Amino acid sequence: MNEHDCLCRNFEYFEKEATAMEIRSTTDEDLDAFVDTVHTAFGHFPKTPIAGGGRWWSALEMDRGLLALSADGRPVGTAAAYSFELTLPGRTLAPVAGVSAVGVLPSHRRRGVLGEMMRRQLSEVRSRGEFLSVLLASEAPIYGRFGYGPATFTTRLTVPRHRAALAVPRARATADAPATGADSGTVEVLRRAECGEVLEEIYDRYRRSQPGALSRPHRWWALGAGQSPVSSAPRYVAVHRDADGTADGYASYSIGEPTTLTVDETIATDDAVFTALARFVLGHDLVSQVVFRHVPPEHPLRWQLADIRAGEAGEHADWLWVRLLDIPRALTARGWFTDGELVLDVDDPFLGERCRYLLTVREGEAGCVPTDRQPDLSLDVRDLGSLYLGGVTPSTLVRAGHILACRPGAAALADALFRTESAPHCVHWF
Ligand SMILES: CC(C)(COP(=O)(O)OP(=O)(O)OC[C@H]1O[C@@H](n2cnc3c(N)ncnc32)[C@H](O)[C@@H]1OP(=O)(O)O)[C@@H](O)C(=O)NCCC(=O)NCCS
Repeated sequence: MNEHDCLCRNFEYFEKEATAMEIRSTTDEDLDAFVDTVHTAFGHFPKTPIAGGGRWWSALEMDRGLLALSADGRPVGTAAAYSFELTLPGRTLAPVAGVSAVGVLPSHRRRGVLGEMMRRQLSEVRSRGEFLSVLLASEAPIYGRFGYGPATFTTRLTVPRHRAALAVPRARATADAPATGADSGTVEVLRRAECGEVLEEIYDRYRRSQPGALSRPHRWWALGAGQSPVSSAPRYVAVHRDADGTADGYASYSIGEPTTLTVDETIATDDAVFTALARFVLGHDLVSQVVFRHVPPEHPLRWQLADIRAGEAGEHADWLWVRLLDIPRALTARGWFTDGELVLDVDDPFLGERCRYLLTVREGEAGCVPTDRQPDLSLDVRDLGSLYLGGVTPSTLVRAGHILACRPGAAALADALFRTESAPHCVHWF
């Protein structure tokens, strides 16, 4: 079996299916119609006039958009893609398509419009050489059928101020490992409008070493196209600087009724900086509780509270969904931390592809080739998307009945091989 046999089914079949409807790429001239169709699909009246797209839509890459048109030429569906970089385990960076603005008019639903747009989009993403596509799902049941699996998770953590004391860290500093919580830096409170490019610089440093994080292209910051603090919505931003004055973390926050301090995101280039920023917001006067909107589910902050019950985790949610489009490239691009071999029988029903791969890791270097060997695991490509960044273990998906372990010990072997150095996390909204 060779690689070509595995990837051979082309997209002719999909194009034949699209008969009564046309799907075409967008240009800059389509912006207003595109945005109007997305608003109608989501049932949102635009807050600002649509002409020119508005700030939120200004980062759209119109050469990557798709419009579905009815037989009489009216737009009935939309799909966009942004060009991002995704940080993989091992801190390698991969170009990815960030799928967004997916919508079909309520009058044209459940006739296969989304399915056709997904086929066309995946074909285009592949032909650009991107081997991964990612998205945030409005509803969990939509995207599994197209090969996407939930891969990163996020939690809202609420801490009442009167129980917000942090425990004194027991860990003692050594030359190699400074004590977590020991902070020789400073925190300055700025208004969002005063921050210049410092948030962009901190975020960029952070995302390069955080598996699961996406780049935020400069134009997003320049245009204010995104949620706070990318947008210019009024916010206070606590900016942390190290002892040399280099900015290395921030917490963007607002205080609303009833005296809740809500942190949009805490971006820190290491754990001690996160602790310093957490200590800062938790110590804010005239506040009854602090809500951290986005923390990784296993974040150490809960363990740092003197009262471990003080941190109430809620809204545990899937965040980034991942879809592999070239399995050998994807598996050899990420870092691996344990040597071993695994045979994966991967089914991709949406693209009509099925192949068995031998994954070999030797001294951190991965090889992935088609094989006829007996499989260790049999799985759908969406489950491989969930495993890819290390956000869930193979054995969890075996126990859930998603993945078939084809021989005793296969799940444990896969757990060891897929293990990553830290849990993936993504805060970028797109
Ligand atoms: C989600 C949406 C784009 C689906 O468009 P659509 O053209 O109706 O989807 P399709 O007809 O191509 O459906 C393809 C399959 O997905 C299923 N599906 C579509 N939307 C679904 C949903 N919201 N929940 C569960 N299944 C869904 C369909 O039943 C169909 O299944 P089948 O292949 O087994 O028959 C559309 O309902 C919409 O615009 N919703 C509001 C905006 C939104 O949520 N967009 C997604 C942003 S991430």
